[in-house]
Amino acid sequence: MDWGMQNRLAKIIHPEDGRCLMLAVDHGYFLGPMERLEVPRRAINPLLPYTDSLMLTRGILRTSVDPKCDIPIVLRVSGATSIIGEDLSKETITTSIEEAIRLNASCLALSIFVGSKYEHQTLSNLAKLVDEGEKYEIPVLAVTAVGKEMGRDARYLGLACRVAAELGAHIVKTYYCDNFEQVVEGCPVPLIIAGGKKLPEPEALKLAHDAITHGAAGVDMGRNIWQSDWPITMIKAVQAIVHKNADAKEAYGIFLEEKEKDKPSQKEGQKVVRTTVNH
Ligand code: R5P
Repeated sequence: MDWGMQNRLAKIIHPEDGRCLMLAVDHGYFLGPMERLEVPRRAINPLLPYTDSLMLTRGILRTSVDPKCDIPIVLRVSGATSIIGEDLSKETITTSIEEAIRLNASCLALSIFVGSKYEHQTLSNLAKLVDEGEKYEIPVLAVTAVGKEMGRDARYLGLACRVAAELGAHIVKTYYCDNFEQVVEGCPVPLIIAGGKKLPEPEALKLAHDAITHGAAGVDMGRNIWQSDWPITMIKAVQAIVHKNADAKEAYGIFLEEKEKDKPSQKEGQKVVRTTVNH
């Protein structure tokens, strides 16, 4: 692996501990203004000091993140579908490699929909993106998106993650499931987990801890952080699990301790009209 690729990967997965805390704020690319991400800048800015990297589209990057900040960017480059459109799996590559380079992306992210109507199209997208990324030594994160009809079990997720790795993805994002270690074993590149729908904080922290205990390199978490009433506190607790080996109980202790301190700074981020669309 060449220097540029190694350097970029080290920004996403920290070489000191092999772990990764990625903040996902790309949801609007097909869901529109989700609850508490209506004004992206308000949700993103207070959380930047605590995340290792930020996953988002070019539109939100350009409009809502200060170019002078040094946060590594995981640029979502697939989409062109919406929650009310024909088929969510019909994604295409939406951002060119030149644009990703101009935006100084450290990693490119693209969804694959294994088992869906447009499986072939999304897997071809991944293969092409890996070729493009490797020309310029930019790694690719494959997001194993799960259609409504697919089960989130180790058999299905194991298949999707392995296919992604076989096509050359450098990191794979999936969901935590029972027998997660089987998914990890079958995937020769680092696996990170999505947080999924908002859970009560102790459950979300347990999910993160379980995933790491069973072999995940970290989390790419969104809703369970910025939909919390205490997003800064929540990301600090997740950080303790990812980088400080805290267990779920210790992390929740940190959450409870820090909650009151963080409250005033977070209220500002929530003075917005709520329009909820969940997936
Ligand atoms: C899908 O909308 C995106 O790829 C999200 O980044 C991903 O699902 C992670 O976010 P969450 O933790 O909210 O599931």
